Amino acid sequence: MTHCIAIHSYKGGTGKTTIAANAAALLVMMGKRVAILDLDVYAPSLHNYFKINPKKWINDFLDNNADIDEAIVDLTDTHLPQLREKSHSEGRLFTGFSNPSRDAIFKFEMGNGTDYWKKQFRKLVFLREQIITKLDTDFIIIDTSPGIRHWSINALSIADKLILTMKMDDLDIEGTKKLLFEIYTTFVRFGAISYILLNRVSGYCIPGTTMDSGMEKNQDHRMVLEELHKETGANSLTPLPCYCDIQFSPREFLTVINNPTHPFSLKLKNIINEMINNQ
Ligand SMILES: Nc1ncnc2c1ncn2[C@@H]1O[C@H](COP(=O)(O)OP(=O)(O)O)[C@@H](O)[C@H]1O
Ligand SMILES: [Mg+2]
Repeated sequence: MTHCIAIHSYKGGTGKTTIAANAAALLVMMGKRVAILDLDVYAPSLHNYFKINPKKWINDFLDNNADIDEAIVDLTDTHLPQLREKSHSEGRLFTGFSNPSRDAIFKFEMGNGTDYWKKQFRKLVFLREQIITKLDTDFIIIDTSPGIRHWSINALSIADKLILTMKMDDLDIEGTKKLLFEIYTTFVRFGAISYILLNRVSGYCIPGTTMDSGMEKNQDHRMVLEELHKETGANSLTPLPCYCDIQFSPREFLTVINNPTHPFSLKLKNIINEMINNQ
């Protein structure tokens, strides 16, 4: 069975793309066949991680201008030799990117609520089906647009596991509650499993507030997660600390490949196992 996991959030900048890209690479290193899709169609950025300028985009597939093998490309050997060295031989990374051009983004905005939008949504369901049947994937990881926009909902609709990333700020906490009440209840009612993932919590850079020390900050995020659970029934994954070297790196890169023993890589691996084992 293919697990289809969407990474979503109320606000931007909560770490969706970082988590999606690194989780996909980790799974490949664990010997899995993984497809990662950039469905943050209003502000695509995933291609930057892979330093790639694709010939065809997911947009072309949705518009009947590309087949699955043109829109979804296996980058394991060509672009990620380090990944190949570190993975079991069966591990593969298939990628589908969203076109960042102004016209492509505008087309999604203009299509909302029209027949064009409905057709594109049906093609998206077909894309998922084709990835599963033709590429025989174990996992599909989807990076999404934040909030309650048409294409955020589309991306969530084709997933069976939803990860809602959030930071420890009041706006984000309130927005996350709103998403859980207004959107996620429907997906959960129809069989999806949702998780909250608190990201960039203090604890690594600030002395005296280490994640494992049980200090004040640690209590703060436990309280927030307990409150969210009480109010919405949502379960959470183990929070990810904020690591300054990742946050202030001038260029996004795949930490799990470049630095597999970094605490971010180790914690993310635990989080993935936590989610996979909790069916
Ligand atoms: N755990 C983390 N520690 C430090 N920086 C992080 C962490 N997660 C994400 N970031 C940084 O936060 C910024 C926003 O992350 P990004 O993945 O682009 O968010 P989103 O896709 O939700 O907009 C990036 O600069 C990224 O490197
Ligand atoms: Mg992003």
